[in-house]
Amino acid sequence: SRITIINGPNLNLLGIREKSIYGDQDFTTFLAALRDAYPAVALSYFQSNHEGAIIDKIHEVGFATEGIILNAGAYTHTSLAIADAIAAVTAPVVEVHISNVYARESYRHHSYLAKNCKGVICGFGLDGYRLALESLLTR
Ligand code: DQA
Repeated sequence: SRITIINGPNLNLLGIREKSIYGDQDFTTFLAALRDAYPAVALSYFQSNHEGAIIDKIHEVGFATEGIILNAGAYTHTSLAIADAIAAVTAPVVEVHISNVYARESYRHHSYLAKNCKGVICGFGLDGYRLALESLLTR
């Protein structure tokens, strides 16, 4: 099956940024290992720091793939436009956060996206992307 991972703002700095919260592994290394572990899955990857580019990508893959794994970063807590994009497409979307957002600042406790998603995974580090993939493959 075809699954797309979309990472939002600042997630290009994984392994460099706030390591005590997000860990020291870069996403490229993690993604290579994930692809090796799931050879039957066509796993696409897209990262952008721009809200509109994330929306364009959701439109592009959201009718053409079996699922989207989305870590929208801080846009999770602000973006009605990304929430609407998720509602607009047919592919199921799983919301992922590397950190446990509920153990952090209260402004990270609310997600505009979650109600339009199949489910939410947070607090398991990068393994959350694998858990999201499992959930999309077993439906
Ligand atoms: C994050 C959590 C968000 O609150 C934050 O703005 C991020 C990363 C996470 O993966 O834990 O950029 O989505």
